[in-house]
Amino acid sequence: MTPDKIAHIQTLAAEITDLSRTLKGSSEQFMVDSLPYLKKSEELVTLVQSPAEHATSLIIKTMETAVIRTLLSLNVLQTIPTTGFISLQCLAEATETQASLLERLLRVVTRTGFLIHENGAYHHTNTSLAYAGPLGALFTPCYDEGIRALIRLPEYLSVKEKEEAKNSRYSPFTWNEGQEGKTTFEILSNMPIRTEGIHTLAMNVQHLRPYTGFFDYAKLISEDRERPVFVDVGGGNGHVIKEVLQAFPQIRPEQCILEDRAETLELARTMGLLPAGVKLLEHDYLTRQPVLNAKAYHLRAVAYNLGDAELVQLLKQIVPVMGPDSKVLIAENILFDDNGTAFSTVSDMIMLCIGGKERTERNFREVLEEAGLMVDGIHRSPGLEYGIVEASLKMS
Ligand SMILES: C[S@@+](CC[C@H](N)C(=O)[O-])C[C@H]1O[C@@H](n2cnc3c(N)ncnc32)[C@H](O)[C@@H]1O
Repeated sequence: MTPDKIAHIQTLAAEITDLSRTLKGSSEQFMVDSLPYLKKSEELVTLVQSPAEHATSLIIKTMETAVIRTLLSLNVLQTIPTTGFISLQCLAEATETQASLLERLLRVVTRTGFLIHENGAYHHTNTSLAYAGPLGALFTPCYDEGIRALIRLPEYLSVKEKEEAKNSRYSPFTWNEGQEGKTTFEILSNMPIRTEGIHTLAMNVQHLRPYTGFFDYAKLISEDRERPVFVDVGGGNGHVIKEVLQAFPQIRPEQCILEDRAETLELARTMGLLPAGVKLLEHDYLTRQPVLNAKAYHLRAVAYNLGDAELVQLLKQIVPVMGPDSKVLIAENILFDDNGTAFSTVSDMIMLCIGGKERTERNFREVLEEAGLMVDGIHRSPGLEYGIVEASLKMS
């Protein structure tokens, strides 16, 4: 190791020690406080690791990812008691899994420190306990709808054109599912648990995708009480309309419309999140928008599911029904031009698999321009990549 490298390691180690003094105990706080600390620690590990050690740890991490997903599907993590221990035999019996298979899987995650194995029994760490609960509900769709196809990307690209998916019907995801020709959501419509997983994920990333606080929805209010105000295109289970109406009670529910596929509307009805009065409308967003002259057509976590050509197609279905003061509001990550955050990078890889993409401000401007729209404003949520791109009809 060169003296320069050793000096760099020592500097980083000192910076990490300094940063560790700013860490606070409470779990919510800890997440935010620990980010710079984690970043420096990762930098230090990368610097100290040999290339071979890097490869070994990468392989273990990849295997750990698959093993954690497997342990969740076998109900193993959920069966380990929240406090106390469980023996291999009891775990095998409770989950109806062969003990020797389980032992080998568990070896991977005890090796990484995810779970503890002591005195012949297993117990949770804080991390594994979180996966047994709500974190597992976020991790599972990322794995199922993204990582599974991403792992096969080299194989996919060896048999396909070496380019981004042309549309959401022919993507690494549809190929991996053996269902090319159908969109991701058409495929998932026969798998209620996986569909629900996606909606749970969408609802549980509010710290990265806040509903409000960066766009003044009150400016959409119309004097005309009959005019549609807020059309949530691909609006999901209704959680977005619910939150927007809660923050802006001046908007009348009767002037809001939730548009989505039939099975998602059914989910919205079952979940009962929508305030009374909100209309539900089955609609395929790649066909002509049925609601005329709304104040706003809102697309949250929809644009990133689509490649540029399909997004232009979707927007072109809205443009002809817009009034002169109608807005298109695209709520998405708006990527910073330098290295993206971990969240948007992960999300972009998942979107790459399903034929969509995360976009920079320039990408949004290009797509909107092609659809006949112009950008009126970029409203970023403070400190986040996430925000709303506000657009209206291009002046001719
Ligand atoms: C990632 S979810 C986002 C849902 C919601 N906007 C949110 O922010 O949570 C994408 C939504 O698009 C809907 N969707 C997919 N294909 C569609 C289509 N062709 N027409 C209308 N909605 C569609 C899905 O059912 C799903 O609700």
